[in-house]
Amino acid sequence: MNRNIETPICDLGFSDKQEAVQPEALKLASRTRRRSSAASTCSFSSACFTASSDEDTVISPREKKQRNTKGFTDFCVKNVLSQHGFGRREIEIAEQEMPGIMTLRKRAREDKPLRNANIVCCTHINAQTAVMVEGLIELGASVRWASCNIYSTQNAVAAALAEAGIPVFAWRGETEEDFWWCLDKCINAPGWAPNMILDDGGDATHLMWKKYPEIFKGIKGIVEESLTGVHRLYHMSKNGKLTVPAINVNDSVTKMKFDNFYCVQDSILDSLKRSTDIMFGGKQVVVCGYGDVGKGCAKSLKAQGCIVYVTEIDPICALQASMDGHRVVTLNEVIRNVDIVVTATGNKNIVTREHMNRMKNGCIVCNMGHSNSEIDVNSLHTPELTWERVRSQVDHIIWPDGRMIILLAEGRLVNMSCSTIPSFVVSITASTQALALIELYNAIPGRYKNDVYLLPKKMDEYVASLHLPTFDAHLTELTDEQAKYLGLNKSGPFKPNYYRY
Ligand SMILES: NC(=O)c1ccc[n+]([C@@H]2O[C@H](COP(=O)([O-])OP(=O)(O)OC[C@H]3O[C@@H](n4cnc5c(N)ncnc54)[C@H](O)[C@@H]3O)[C@@H](O)[C@H]2O)c1
Repeated sequence: MNRNIETPICDLGFSDKQEAVQPEALKLASRTRRRSSAASTCSFSSACFTASSDEDTVISPREKKQRNTKGFTDFCVKNVLSQHGFGRREIEIAEQEMPGIMTLRKRAREDKPLRNANIVCCTHINAQTAVMVEGLIELGASVRWASCNIYSTQNAVAAALAEAGIPVFAWRGETEEDFWWCLDKCINAPGWAPNMILDDGGDATHLMWKKYPEIFKGIKGIVEESLTGVHRLYHMSKNGKLTVPAINVNDSVTKMKFDNFYCVQDSILDSLKRSTDIMFGGKQVVVCGYGDVGKGCAKSLKAQGCIVYVTEIDPICALQASMDGHRVVTLNEVIRNVDIVVTATGNKNIVTREHMNRMKNGCIVCNMGHSNSEIDVNSLHTPELTWERVRSQVDHIIWPDGRMIILLAEGRLVNMSCSTIPSFVVSITASTQALALIELYNAIPGRYKNDVYLLPKKMDEYVASLHLPTFDAHLTELTDEQAKYLGLNKSGPFKPNYYRY
């Protein structure tokens, strides 16, 4: 019996998404002005960001009966028939820039290492992740796929996947309730017995564990991509609740040192530009958190001529920031003067209402961390503040004295919500995820206990090597004498697990 079957999905209590806790009275009281012009739907040029028709915005995809051109109906996306062609082109463009995952697909196509794997996927749904998931299917897997974020789905891509016969449940701008409904569809479906989870943020794992314990028993392995999801897995493991092995992809070198840094370095500029048309030179920016994500943001903003301040709790990261030429401050010290606030801590309540009350007129506030808890957006839903939607994912929050701040993506991951992301970097992460799935799915019994593991170092090195030909990079081979001197195998691994890169 499923113990929690009666619990409304959105009430399970493990969501870090804020609408769920916003009091109804406040929602009503908060004065919201929505401009009805085209600008309120979208202003981006990419096919994946194109504005929806009026009908689309009024009718929820859940209320529409859709079938693809072959009569397939096991999906729920914004609009399959009008958008799938655009989406397919987006996926094809991404394939050009994703050499690692494409090589993996080609090499393992015959062996089908994921034959009979039934994977519940809960990741962002965009052109790049589509290349990965179509790869998993090519390697033998079946998938059911929901988005891990209500704003990041590229509708055209989701349509292309549905047209290809993939059960996909996601659209950009889902409600909180839709989010859990979509995820539920991926876990609990007639004739579907999931045996693997590919997660980004831990929601699929937690929903299945909490609401469908019987189904959870059939899981052979979990692959988790995000820092937030990894924290949840370690927490489960510590409390003896993790009953399957899991691979922490976030801390794989080929994920963390590339996705968290290089992806962010490109996309922080892209998302700020697309949403606000800001010129960076001379702007004062505070980046909260100086881990890999904070470092990526700070580096590229500084390169554009911004004056960058950093906040940190950790003296090691604070020292790195100082020696990289940034001023380490507390948020209180600079909050009145900065033009842009970027959170990247993976923590909660970094930017409070108190801070926002003191920001200068026009200050841009955005979050690069996984969950939407870094900026206290709930606290902005009070009667005296006016919310004005000026563009898709861009809100002006106006104080009674006329001062306003510009909030991007309602405090959710700004790069996933307001821009596209570099395909090449996603190829690295996607290859790591695919190898982690193959490793857990094919592991001989007993190799992995019910705990959280890192991907074996040799696989990390393999993922990196898949991407070197793009740069015509030529590796130096160890001589026998050198290998002996360093105590290494000539084919790797080349570093101990504790090496930090
Ligand atoms: N936007 C993206 O594309 C993207 C990519 C990868 C990861 N992420 C997310 O970004 C977040 C950060 O990832 P990371 O890899 O940099 O993590 P990290 O742990 O390396 O860095 C976070 C830093 O924040 C600091 N911190 C924590 N609480 C703080 C506070 N109250 N004030 C100031 N600093 C504080 C920590 O000391 C740490 O150095 C995570 O939520 C992660 O899931 C986003």
